[in-house]
Amino acid sequence: MKTTTRELNLKKSKADVIIISSFEDKKLLDNSYSQLEKLTGSKIPSLVKKDFEGKESQVKNFYLGDRRVILTGLGKKESCKLETLRCAVARAVKVADSMGVPGAGIILYEDNLNGNSLEDIVIAQVEAAYLSRYKFDKYFKVKKEKKVYLENLEFLSDSKKLSQIQKYVNDGVIIAESTINARDIGNEPSNIATPVHVANKIVEYGKKYGYSVKVYDKKELTRKKFGLILAVGQGSANEPRMIVMTYNGGKKGDKPYALVGKGVTFDTGGISIKPSAGMENMKMDMNGSAAVIGAMNAIARLKLKVNIVAVVGMVENMPSSTAYKPGDVVVGYDGTTVEVQNTDAEGRLVLGDCVAFVTEYKPKFIVDIATLTGAALIALGHISTALISNNDDLSGKLIKAGNDTHERVWRLPDWDDYDRLIDSEIADVSNVGQGRQAGTIVGGLFVKRFAKDYPWAHLDIAGTGMSPKAGDYSPKFSSGVGVRLLTKMFKDLQ
Ligand code: BES
Ligand code: ZN
Ligand code: ZN
Repeated sequence: MKTTTRELNLKKSKADVIIISSFEDKKLLDNSYSQLEKLTGSKIPSLVKKDFEGKESQVKNFYLGDRRVILTGLGKKESCKLETLRCAVARAVKVADSMGVPGAGIILYEDNLNGNSLEDIVIAQVEAAYLSRYKFDKYFKVKKEKKVYLENLEFLSDSKKLSQIQKYVNDGVIIAESTINARDIGNEPSNIATPVHVANKIVEYGKKYGYSVKVYDKKELTRKKFGLILAVGQGSANEPRMIVMTYNGGKKGDKPYALVGKGVTFDTGGISIKPSAGMENMKMDMNGSAAVIGAMNAIARLKLKVNIVAVVGMVENMPSSTAYKPGDVVVGYDGTTVEVQNTDAEGRLVLGDCVAFVTEYKPKFIVDIATLTGAALIALGHISTALISNNDDLSGKLIKAGNDTHERVWRLPDWDDYDRLIDSEIADVSNVGQGRQAGTIVGGLFVKRFAKDYPWAHLDIAGTGMSPKAGDYSPKFSSGVGVRLLTKMFKDLQ
């Protein structure tokens, strides 16, 4: 999609349809009407004024002179959030898309909005416009019938600081495109998205966006004794890979922040095999790695002033004669011995080795992200990501970024009492707890054992990483969750 940012002058705009968002408060609604009348030189039809009240989720399209116009409601100004703005823009863009015209002009909302910065306000509108149009349709032989696609988006600004708005729009596009990178990785079927395929993709991204990439193949993983990653991968003909991305936008010599992502390209459960109903969704068990890759793309493209080391463990969990088995004891990269009681609790093993590896960088903090437990979906649904952390400050940063981006996170306790549930009778730790108790916490605390005493946070996106239905700007299936969240947290650290 092509994007331009222009001053709000419809004579200069090529847009086939104009989108304007409006509050329901009479005065603000009338302001929008007079703004539109001034811009188009035509009078708003009285029936439009009667029918459109600016209520949240109300969308109305009509003709004004030679322009198509879409009005999209924001509800009451006092209760309007960034998320309200995102959804309103997304709904309007979808209507514009259905009109079969190539260009839409979105009049940016640029006034204050309950304490949010102008930057966040502009980015919210841009990302929503982009993300609402996401489709994973590459496998259709013939694309769904449609003659004309919306392909030009103009963001129309009334601000005196147009170049600043332009920068915010560009940043919004980068964040949306990076989220789309993550959605694409997650949605890609596992016969294509093997560990090697994803590693190659990361190498490509690193070259394109400016971060360095090192791929550890099976030989290297064996030589360096990444015993947990290797154990999970040993049942599959598709060999595992660990990929290390480094981005140095910060001060030379400054310690990096570390990101770690679970990249199980397909999770059958292994010998502890999953039931077949719904197993196809386990092609998305790499959404944690997708979030890390997307966030790295965004951070590098935005040229954020931070140093980051990001690691993803890519592996396929299969049952076979070479697969690891319940009862096995395996040794991790840091020497920790793990009793495997269930081969379906594989993600924490992959994360354990990757987290142990990043501690060698003496990071300022470690954030890992993973579709780790079905229990997270049971506890929080598809609405909120579960957070387990040993650090209040880091948790606060993630919670704030989650609220700002609406990729919300909810913290669960990391108490020692829970940690005891993964003590093993024959090894340093077991990969499962006691029955179904506190599954999400226990999964997180397994990973914590590899983080030494570094500030660490674990994000379980089993619920939020994949969605059974589309939202206004989020699609069915892989959501790309984590990209906007992590990018915002690092933006806030600037
Ligand atoms: N990939 C799954 C978790 C998952 C489930 C993600 C549903 C998304 C949707 C993970 O590897 C897994 O199977 N976890 C087990 C752990 C259990 C064996 C301790 C689970 O949640 O059942
Ligand atoms: Zn599993
Ligand atoms: Zn898994």
